Amino acid sequence: MCMNDIANQLVAAGKGIMAADRPSPAFYDLLRSEGIPTDEEAYRNWSELLFLAPGLSESVSGIIMTDEQVRLTDSTGQSLIEQVIERGMIPGISPAKGLVALAGSAGETVGSGLDGLRERLHEYAALGVGFSKWRAAFQIGPGTPSYYAIEANAYVMAQMAALSQEAGIVPIVEPEVMLWGDHHIDRCFAITEWVLSRTFEALYLHRVDLEGTLVKASMVLSGNECAEQADVETVAAQTVKVFQRQIPAAIPGIVFLSGGQSDYQATARLNAMNANYELPWKLSFSYARALQREPMAIWGNRPDRAPAAQAALCHRAKMNGLASLGLWKAELEGEAVAP
Ligand code: 13P
Repeated sequence: MCMNDIANQLVAAGKGIMAADRPSPAFYDLLRSEGIPTDEEAYRNWSELLFLAPGLSESVSGIIMTDEQVRLTDSTGQSLIEQVIERGMIPGISPAKGLVALAGSAGETVGSGLDGLRERLHEYAALGVGFSKWRAAFQIGPGTPSYYAIEANAYVMAQMAALSQEAGIVPIVEPEVMLWGDHHIDRCFAITEWVLSRTFEALYLHRVDLEGTLVKASMVLSGNECAEQADVETVAAQTVKVFQRQIPAAIPGIVFLSGGQSDYQATARLNAMNANYELPWKLSFSYARALQREPMAIWGNRPDRAPAAQAALCHRAKMNGLASLGLWKAELEGEAVAP
């Protein structure tokens, strides 16, 4: 399949991506912080629960995995990645080795893991991986993000994108402008515009084929500690506006990260964009927390709770699938919604 076909399949009507790429140490920390006991089977069980949830493929086109997850087998010894493909979903990889301190900057970061990436991507392609995802994280603060951090991250993402395409893998570049801080939404808009413009300049320089690339973006939001919180309509309008300025129409789709928004906010804001605007690209989801927060709380590493956790996961995926069409309504959520 050509990369444009894979990219279009990832943002097929009513579908989005599930980001499941939390590495096992971070996963264990999360379970422990909730007072949930862990053992070495927990990571495999959680991955199996997510990947093989009955009906997930109705709203999920692809799953972002870790290096560990693409090699996992289920409790009967069958490869998980093969079962994901059998269910009609595209396996993806998060090939970075984490964010590391950017030398010479005061606390900013850059994604690491370019060494040996060409060989690893070819290996992932042979395992059936169809797309990759690489994150850059920008914290808004006094003097940040810096020109240096934006340029450094744009180049690293573009190198990853070029290497992915060389291996026949669709790259997703993820320049996340983080939610944390007391900044006004206007500052988030300005930083997002700057970051996107430099990211696309780097993709151009690295000869990346835009028709075979997706963007994983943050929404334009008020900082979580800002006294004035923008409403759903403003978030949708500002986010669409910044994309119209900086994301070429050749990109088949933009998928959002949830970035600390509540499940409900992430769905409602995505829906508002799709319901109210004519757009040149598909706008969909690539959520981790906003899909898995509730299922994880239900599961709590108790095997008997897996079916209920899977049902909660499929419900959130379905709500976000509807939002990607502009067809979601709060009434569809049932009683458990806290707007
Ligand atoms: P969140 O939706 O939790 O922000 O995660 C997105 C992500 O990039 C994980 O791959």
